[in-house]
Amino acid sequence: MTKNHIILIGFMGAGKTTIAKQLSSITKLPIQEMDQLIIDNSNYETINQIFNRKGEIGFRELEIETAKTLSRINKPAIISTGGGVVMNKIIIDYLRESGTIIYLHATLSVITERLSGDTTRPLFKDLEAATKLYKLRQPLYKSYCDLMIDTNHDHPQVIAQNIINQLNHN
Ligand code: S3P
Repeated sequence: MTKNHIILIGFMGAGKTTIAKQLSSITKLPIQEMDQLIIDNSNYETINQIFNRKGEIGFRELEIETAKTLSRINKPAIISTGGGVVMNKIIIDYLRESGTIIYLHATLSVITERLSGDTTRPLFKDLEAATKLYKLRQPLYKSYCDLMIDTNHDHPQVIAQNIINQLNHN
């Protein structure tokens, strides 16, 4: 197992998918999107369906399997995780041993605006519950990352270039 991947963590709506695309276009590395891999390897078509049929615990089990699989891929990739990976130490351990973890941080108000009207996220349906989750997870994202990057204001291309510059300096 080698520490090859660039791994994006952060809350729903922090910009993981968008920044992964920009990072991929700069580095030419492929993207591995955990939620998409989970769907592709299941008999379901959406994350909502998985939550409805298997519950959050069932979803987290699939997430663990996916993190394990990704940790065994030696060819470097940009990994875009789901916002809940920090809830499972076992997933974090797989991710930590396979790459550099970048925490994409956005404020809850920016996130709420970005996700307004979104119906694809089972854990962002109720603002009060999402707020609790956001507060619970902040310290986890911070403690598990190698680098924290703000995504509130800058253009995704600028943010991605900033990440690459910082990685090259380390
Ligand atoms: C989740 C985040 C989602 C998805 C699932 C659970 C979470 O991914 O994995 O809905 O627990 O925060 P995004 O962070 O890409 O929205």
